[in-house]
Amino acid sequence: MTVRIGFIGAGGNSNWHMDSLAEVADAKVVAVCDLDPAKAKTTAEKWGAKAHTSHKELLAENELDCCYICIPPHQHGEPEIDVIQKGLPFFVEKPLALRMELAEDILERIEKRGINTCVGYQIRYLDICDRARKMLEGRQINAVHAHYTGGCVGGWYTRLALSGGQITEQATHLVDLMRFILGDVEWIAAAKRTGAVVTEDTLDGTTLGKGSVSSEAAGLQLHDYNIWDATAMLMQFESGVPATFICSCQAPYQWDVMFDIWTTEFRLRLSFGGMEIIHVVDGELKTEKMEAVAPKGIDATFVDAVKTGDFSQVRSHYRDAMESLRVTLTAAEAAVKGGVLSVRG
Ligand SMILES: NC(=O)c1ccc[n+]([C@@H]2O[C@H](COP(=O)([O-])OP(=O)(O)OC[C@H]3O[C@@H](n4cnc5c(N)ncnc54)[C@H](O)[C@@H]3O)[C@@H](O)[C@H]2O)c1
Repeated sequence: MTVRIGFIGAGGNSNWHMDSLAEVADAKVVAVCDLDPAKAKTTAEKWGAKAHTSHKELLAENELDCCYICIPPHQHGEPEIDVIQKGLPFFVEKPLALRMELAEDILERIEKRGINTCVGYQIRYLDICDRARKMLEGRQINAVHAHYTGGCVGGWYTRLALSGGQITEQATHLVDLMRFILGDVEWIAAAKRTGAVVTEDTLDGTTLGKGSVSSEAAGLQLHDYNIWDATAMLMQFESGVPATFICSCQAPYQWDVMFDIWTTEFRLRLSFGGMEIIHVVDGELKTEKMEAVAPKGIDATFVDAVKTGDFSQVRSHYRDAMESLRVTLTAAEAAVKGGVLSVRG
């Protein structure tokens, strides 16, 4: 069965998914829409698909089996509501929204219509996640620390009201990974840093890699930079594990992501590229390194789920991804209000 896919949004991330779908059997991009007609046309032509400038037109004029929603965080709402109304399973990029109320509204519709979803937390599909979860079963975890640092892409990302800032738009990958491995977060305290001078020249997201730099081209023409340069968090997981976390988008010289876990017997260091296991073997401290691979990537998993109707292999569904959003929005609130905030209010 050919899986007929419609894309809402034809920016950097969408094209990244389309490149990956080109390797997935039976996946066919049949329609693409973007508010920017030129982007819709260019991307559609590349894949022999129909171009649209409205998702309503895309949904009305094409026979689809599923949709991808890859639009900026502030644009969520109407596209999901219409895709759900159409009864289509959908892939949606993180962050799901910039307000919990909107995400809760969409979740209610999803569950009422029994719609299947897949959320763009692709790091969960790396084999190191399974290995870490297995190794940590029944172990005494002392504490964890994580950081996500790098440069700043341009465009809507630089505006708090449009992106939610780094913690909600970008470092959410790491927050989500921490939840995937350690469970839910109970409370958060946070602090923010501002004051970096950001100009066209200082914007540099190149170290962030493919799929994330598209907005870079947008530069600062439309938006004055007002997101936070850095955020630091102290968290307690419901399991009792204490954690510290920092992220910064004003370190253009190096993209660095690390999730450090100390147990009473060994230490695990996870990045998006691999994992180190640090432990004593025959009285000697050893560091074992393993490269991360995704035996089956997020796009292949989603397409197979649409084909079979079995979404059990999808690792992040809308309801769970809402909990990662809740943590990041609570962190942002704590950084503004001060004090310790409980994640579930
Ligand atoms: N999972 C990941 O690793 C990853 C990587 C990059 C981006 N993302 C996420 O993907 C989303 C898109 O990011 P991007 O880098 O592709 O941004 P982008 O700015 O390159 O592309 C977004 C596109 O959406 C279009 N658009 C906006 N509102 C629309 C609407 N209502 N209908 C149709 N098109 C609309 C814009 O014109 C733009 O072309 C963001 O939520 C971002 O966080 C995820």
